[in-house]
Amino acid sequence: MRLIFLGPPGAGKGTQAAVVSDKLKIPAISTGDILRESVKSNSPIGLKAKSYMEKGELVPDEIVAGIVADRIKKGDALCGFILDGFPRTINQADKLKEQLDKQSIKIDLVIYFETSEPVIISRLSGRRICKNCSANYHVKNIPPKVQGVCDKCGGELYQRVDDKENTIKNRIEVYKKQTASLIDYYKQKGSLRTISGDLDVKEAYKVLTAMFKKEKLL
Ligand code: AP5
Repeated sequence: MRLIFLGPPGAGKGTQAAVVSDKLKIPAISTGDILRESVKSNSPIGLKAKSYMEKGELVPDEIVAGIVADRIKKGDALCGFILDGFPRTINQADKLKEQLDKQSIKIDLVIYFETSEPVIISRLSGRRICKNCSANYHVKNIPPKVQGVCDKCGGELYQRVDDKENTIKNRIEVYKKQTASLIDYYKQKGSLRTISGDLDVKEAYKVLTAMFKKEKLL
C-alpha cells in the first residue's frame, strides 16, 4: 500500500504514520524526520535546511524531492510506504508523480487530516520528542510514564525548536499558503480521502483501517 498523509502541522500525521507503519509493516517516510537527522549530523543537506526549518519555512523543493526519490527506491519501500509531510507544494507533487511513473507505481490514497486550529496549537506546543529514538509524546495527551524521559529507550525528551509559539503561527500560515492547495490537487485526481485530525489516536486508527478495507487495500 502506498499512502500520502497530508494535513497541517500537528494534525497527527506522524503519530498515525508510526501506528500504520507498525501494523502494516511498511516504512513511514517523514521528510521532517529525515531533515532533522541531516541537521543533527551537519550533513550538506542539513546545513542547507537548518535555517528554513528553524523559521518554519519550507526547505526548497529540489532538496526534499531528491531525498524522497532516493528513499522510495530503497528495498524496504518497494512493497509500500507512507509519505508523511511530503509533498507540500504542487511542484513537489508533480516531481513525486514523475518519480513514481519512472518506477511504474502509483499512490493508492492521499489521506487528508482535517484539523481545527486550536487542536493544532495545543498539540504542537505540548509535543515532546525523544533525543535518542525520536519517539513522539505530548505533555497532556500522550505523556511519558516519567516526565521528560522516553518510555521506549530512556532517552531525554525535548521540545522541537519550531514548536515555539511564533514559529507555530508561521508554520500554519506557510501550510495555508503553500500546502493547502494540494487538497484540491488530489481531490481532482480522485485519490483524496478525509479524516478528522481532531480524533484521538485510537479512534483515528480505527477510521483509517475502515477506510483501507473499504478501498480494498486491506
Ligand atoms: P515536519 O516534521 O513534517 O512537521 P509538520 O508537518 O509541521 O508536522 P508535525 O510533525 O508538526 O505534525 P504531525 O501532523 O506529524 O503531528 P504529530 O503526529 O507529530 O516538518 C518540519 C519542517 O521540516 C517543516 O517546517 C519544513 O521546514 C521542513 N520540511 C519537512 N517536509 C518538507 C517538505 N516536504 N517540503 C519542504 N520542507 C519540508 O503530533 C503532534 C503532537 O500531537 C504530538 O505531541 C503527538 O503526540 C500529539 N498527537 C498526535 N495525534 C494525536 C491525537 N490523535 N490526539 C491527541 N494528541 C495527538
